Amino acid sequence: MLLTRRHVLKAAAASALLPRLAAAGPVTLTAREARQQIAPEGYPDTAIWGYDGGAPGPEIRVAQGARLSRRLMNELPQPTAVHWHGIRIDNAMDGVPGLTQQAVPQGGSFDYDFTLPDAGTYWYHSHNRSMEQVARGLYGPLIVDEPSVPDIDGEWVLVLDDWRLDPETGALAGDFDNGHDLSHAGRLGNLLTVNGGFDPAYPARQGARLRLRLINAANARVFELGLDGMQGWIVALDGMPLEEPLPVSGAFPLAPAQRADLIVDITAESGTAASLLSIERDGGYGLCRFDVAGQGARATREAPVPLPPNPLPVIEGLADSPLHQMRLEGGAMRWLDSARLGETELSGRELAQLGRFWALNGQADRPETPFLNAARGSLHRIAFVNETAFDHGMHLHGHHFRVIAPNGELGPWRDTVLVARGETRQIALVADNPGDWLLHCHMLGHASSGMTSWFRVT
Ligand code: C2O
Ligand code: CU
Repeated sequence: MLLTRRHVLKAAAASALLPRLAAAGPVTLTAREARQQIAPEGYPDTAIWGYDGGAPGPEIRVAQGARLSRRLMNELPQPTAVHWHGIRIDNAMDGVPGLTQQAVPQGGSFDYDFTLPDAGTYWYHSHNRSMEQVARGLYGPLIVDEPSVPDIDGEWVLVLDDWRLDPETGALAGDFDNGHDLSHAGRLGNLLTVNGGFDPAYPARQGARLRLRLINAANARVFELGLDGMQGWIVALDGMPLEEPLPVSGAFPLAPAQRADLIVDITAESGTAASLLSIERDGGYGLCRFDVAGQGARATREAPVPLPPNPLPVIEGLADSPLHQMRLEGGAMRWLDSARLGETELSGRELAQLGRFWALNGQADRPETPFLNAARGSLHRIAFVNETAFDHGMHLHGHHFRVIAPNGELGPWRDTVLVARGETRQIALVADNPGDWLLHCHMLGHASSGMTSWFRVT
């Protein structure tokens, strides 16, 4: 092609921009100490650790199929790493110290750079000493937009957490290794928050249709959620669209690390409020509210259409696939008689001294050999057999799986499945993402005290 003068001028103009773009440098995500008003107004503020100084950290939003690059800067007094929860990611970018990368030392940095194959609601959080670092506030929302926007009037990302604060000083309780928490339900707090604050209010109009992206960032609390002054549907779980929107009636659970996308219509009248509720034994408590002022565009609407599906693998031949058992063991009231730590047989008392309260298939530490060695693309069933007196939210890295209903039917795609005490839950997994992947309970104190394993895809 013959270059005309106009082409040359255009090229010059374009290259003149490049130095400025380059000078801007990589986009950073800084893990650092900060202060934030977590408790209600009138109480003291709280020293937290947050990404870019906030809990939650900045909302990261990208288009499906796009690349995400962030330079993690560690300004914490501890090593750290970022895990991009629920992303079917390149293994080297998974953020697990000791498995996929070295922990980033104090003052150090690490460049994360990966593509996002699936649209949906995800999150990022620290994966080093996570039972402490996540409790201190190191998490944030990661939203991957569908190519086409659903028919809604607005959207709110609502990150739920559960803080344990001293009401006098506002200080975060520092007993992250508390043996009672570790051996029971995990670290439960005394203050429930949305987006890092107590009972925040958002504006809404009567009749408006909103998308609510709920993310449970709590260490251990299983929220039972309910709606007041709005009604709607669950349209996605753990980022993945449901084939059919599921009407919300009554309470629905959201275990640590799980997400639910709702599409709701505001039914509360102008001048009143709609609420997201935490349902507890003695009633419902507002987690956040929508102050309704004025009428929305339309009054009544049809059920929303399903969100466009993500490029997930096909599950075929389930009955012929290998079934692997993973026993969840230990904890208070169902003490381990003995479990192996490497080659040694240890009693429950000895395990407790080592800070180990739980085990997966008898292993109270991340084993040397993977729980599962899977050929790339192979289909597996895993049965989580909960022999403990507590619930556990079992999470697989790098993959989504389908929950198998008791009648054998395939349920929703998830990355974290709640296995109630005494219950057995089966999942179907197409191991299609090569690498070494963690498999652990997302009650973070359980993960750090025995409930961590891994699997390998080659
Ligand atoms: Cu959300 Cu291994 O974690
Ligand atoms: Cu657990």
